[in-house]
Formats: sequence, structure tokens, C-alpha cells
Amino acid sequence: MARILITSALPYINGIKHLGNLVGSQLPSDAYARYMRAKGHEVMFICATDEHGTPAELAAAKAGVPVAKFCADMHVVQKDIAEGFRLSFDYFGRSSSDRNREITQYLAAALGREGLIEEVSEKQVYSHADKRYLPDRYIEGTCPNCGDEKARGDQCENCTKQLNPTDLINPRSAISGSTDLEVRETKHLYLKQSTMRETLDKWIDSQEGWPILTTSIAKKWLHDGDGLRDRGITRDLDWGVPVQFDGAPWSGMEGKVFYVWFDAPIEYISATAEWADANGAGDEAWERWWRVDKGADDVRYVQFMGKDNVPFHTLSFPATMMGSGEPWKLVDFIKSYNWLTYEGGKFSTSQGRGIFMNQALEIFPSDYWRWWLLSNAPESSDSNFTWESFQGGINKDLADVLGNFVSRVTKFCRGKFGEEVPAGGSYGAAEAAVMAEIAKRLKVYEANMEAVELRKAAADLRAIWAAGNEYLQAAAPWTIYKESPEDAAAIVRFALNLIRLYGVLSGPYIPDASKTILAAMNASDAAWPEDLEADLSALPAGHAFTTPEVMFAKITDERRDELEAQFAGED
Ligand code: 2FM
Ligand code: ZN
Repeated sequence: MARILITSALPYINGIKHLGNLVGSQLPSDAYARYMRAKGHEVMFICATDEHGTPAELAAAKAGVPVAKFCADMHVVQKDIAEGFRLSFDYFGRSSSDRNREITQYLAAALGREGLIEEVSEKQVYSHADKRYLPDRYIEGTCPNCGDEKARGDQCENCTKQLNPTDLINPRSAISGSTDLEVRETKHLYLKQSTMRETLDKWIDSQEGWPILTTSIAKKWLHDGDGLRDRGITRDLDWGVPVQFDGAPWSGMEGKVFYVWFDAPIEYISATAEWADANGAGDEAWERWWRVDKGADDVRYVQFMGKDNVPFHTLSFPATMMGSGEPWKLVDFIKSYNWLTYEGGKFSTSQGRGIFMNQALEIFPSDYWRWWLLSNAPESSDSNFTWESFQGGINKDLADVLGNFVSRVTKFCRGKFGEEVPAGGSYGAAEAAVMAEIAKRLKVYEANMEAVELRKAAADLRAIWAAGNEYLQAAAPWTIYKESPEDAAAIVRFALNLIRLYGVLSGPYIPDASKTILAAMNASDAAWPEDLEADLSALPAGHAFTTPEVMFAKITDERRDELEAQFAGED
């Protein structure tokens, strides 16, 4: 059985993420990891905070704390929120870790040995007032093309023209507003990734079944204009991985750090090493996931990310890995996501529009968010969060279908037979028909999970729940009971077994409810079904259970209106 390595794109450290970020990487990767574990695979599920770069420095300055402390604090905040959403990472690391410094410098040295790194002299804008070099997008000025006064040094958002900072008229620092700027000559290291165009092209062509979203973005960057031009992998900043090669300095690079996008994906590897360290295991424990020469040849590596991250994962990171000339494990499947919009518009951090992860958990249990987000994941196109759709999804799918089934069956049984699986009667044609229906749907559910089509798989799961409801409605044990308690007992026994099955199958999507259901059925060790018929007799007559409390409280119209108003934002 293959081992499965799963990574979620690393959230930036500079603030709490919104639901659009959550559904674009962390949440689907978690559902996939849970499914793969349930199927019996050995899984390594990795995420971390992405802590370097200018945004982290600026956020720390704004908060008035040293950047290292800012990152340490925010890491804990993000980790707690991840736990709140039940994200089951095997390790949630930090890109500022010692391990990431070591492995980033190690890979840089390997690239250097392969002749893939060169020194380039660049012109960069230095701000005297800010006492720092300014990245292009932190320089503002008037657009030479359209005259807009808020053009950025990388692009004018008004007319979309790509710019260089030196193109701007009246440039100023976007941080302090200062116009005391100076263009300085500075040396940087470039990764000669353009020499790898053909290798990358062939590698992408050889991948089977990648989502069109992933390959179309990769191919566009590979072939359009300067998509794969050589890139600077160092920066004039204080905060980051120091530019050294396996611990040895590179002359002229003193005081510089690697570019955040160089060290961030390497943290996938480093976080696995952090995991090994945290568990007192040796290097071989992480290397068997990442080094083909050390056992990783039977690993299937799946990455999750929003579509804006695709170029870095299809081109730059593989260029680092392949360019090193060493047998690193390359990704096998890249799942990418479109955008989630909020009530038809963009989520906006600055305008407080939309829902942030911490707020979400204060309002509803994580299962509610997980279910709506995954069953509406922006897989084939963008999807739109509305409170109305959220209310509908929770009330119909979770409360009316799954919750209602669990509650009706357990309460009826408790009332008529007590809280144990009743004996008597036997399964007949109706039960056989539901079994056949569920068996069919389960196959599709599993196939969609394997293909990482989580939105489709959610629909399959919902259909499996609905099949139970329809069965119960038609079998009507409450009517039959009057004439034949024995027949009613067989129906209830079958339905209780269905509840157990639902507990198992729902785990990837709504892990808390799944746990509650299995605990109530006194079947916490239930495994993924291999033989459905046997599985639906797993709870024998006499098996004790408890009747769970209301599992999913419905969202009222009033509450929905309140929330709509609360999250509308400033404008
Ligand atoms: O877009 C982002 O949020 C980045 N922090 C993702 C990094 S993914 C990985 F490469 F580290
Ligand atoms: Zn313009």
C-alpha cells in the first residue's frame, strides 16, 4: 500500500486567514488526509507558517514587536485556529525553524554546485526614512501610462500595465510615504531556472490526470513571455534565512537573506524534519518521505494550494529540487483551487469584509464550516459564499438529512426497545435494495476521493445519507411496530448499523460529528467498510448504544440576517 505525503500551502504569518484561504488548501488537504488514513494508508500530512519576507516585517512593525516574537506569537494563534478546524496535520512547522535554515542552505549549495546560481547586479530602491530596501510593490507613484496616482512599483492596478519602480513619476515609499528614495546598485543571486525549461516541460507533460487548472497555469508560465526567466532568490532584508551555502558564506552576500518564496516550499521538507526531531526520531524518519534514495520511491506526494500558488509549485520549487541534482521526491499530483467569493464580491482583509477563521469558530462549530466549504469547494470554478446558501447547506444536509436520521432512529429505538440494538426479524428486500444503492454510491464516493474531487465526493456522501432517510421513511418502523415488533426491530437494527456506517464515512468532512456518532453507537474503533454487507451487521442484537443530543442545531432566518449585517464590511 502506497504511503501518502500531503502538504497544504503554508499560510503567511502576517494575519489570520479568511475562509477563502482555508478552503483553498488546508481544509481539502485535511479531508484527503483523513480519508487516506481511514483507508489504511500511512500518511504524512504537513503544514507550517510561512514566516519570512517583507509582509511579516511590516506586520510586526505595525504591532510594535520584534519580528521574531511576532512570528512566534502568530504561529501559536494560527496553530490554535487550525486545531479548532480539526486540521489533522502530523506536523505544523515554522519556516523560520533551524531545520529550514539548514535545508534551504543545503539546497542552495547543491544548486550552486550544479552551476545554476549566478550573481547579478540589480538596481533597487532604498528608502532612507524606512532604512531599508523597498520591494517593488512597496513603492507607489504616478503611472506613466494612465496617470493614476496610486500605481505600484510592480504594476498599475488601474490600467494593469506592468511597471518597474523606476518608471513611476514622483515615487514614494508605500510604508512611510517618504520621497527620500535612492536607487542603489546591489548584488543578488539568481536561480538559472530558464535553463530548465525543457526538463520542466517534459516533466509536466509526463504527469497523468493533473487538474486542468494546474496544468493550464503551469503551461502558461512556461511558455508565455518571460514566465520562466531567471529569478533573484536573495533579498536585502534582515529577516529570513541568511544567504549561506551549507554554512559557508558566499562573498558579497553578507547580511542578505533568501527570498521568501525560495525557502517557503522547502519548509515542506523541513517541517517533516521538525516532526522527526519532535518525535525523537533520526533523519531517516523524514528522509524516507523525501529522498528517493532513502525509501521515498513508494510515496505518493499530493500538494494542495490556491491557484495563485501554482507557478511556484509547478516551476520554481521543482526547479530547485531537480536542479539540485539529487534524488528528492517530486510532487505526483497538484490540486489547485479557484477563488471563494463572499456574497458576490472579494473577501477583503482591509475592509473587514467576509469571515475570518477565528470569527467563524466563534459563531458555529467547525463541522458546519467544513461541510459547507468542502461541499461547495471552488474546484471547477469560483464559488460564492452567501449566508443563505450556508444556512441551506447546514439545515438541509446536516440537520434534516443526517441529524434527523440519527435522532429519529435512536429515539424510536430507545422508546420501544431500549438503548440496545434490538433482536428479532431479519433483513429483507428493502434492506438489500438500500445496500445495493449505498454500495454503488460508496464506489463513486471513493473514486472521487481518490481523484481529489472533494466537492463531488461530498455530494456522494450526502446521497448516502439520503438513502438511509428514504429507506426509513418507506420502511416506517413506527407503523409496522403495532403489527409486528419483530419486523420493526429488524428495520431499527439495520438503521442503527447505517448510523454506524455514516459515522465512519463522514469522518473526512465532519470529524466531530463522526466521533460523536461513533461514540454514541459504542463503535469508536469502527473501520472503513471493506465488505458492506458484513459492515451493516457489525452492530449485533444486544449491542448497547446511547442516544445523542441534537447533533446540528438549525440556523434560523433571524440569525442569518444578523450575520449578514455583521459581516457586510465597511462599504
Ligand atoms: O500564498 C501564500 O499564502 C503563501 N504563503 C504560500 C506558500 S506555499 C509554500 F510554498 F510554502
Ligand atoms: Zn496606469
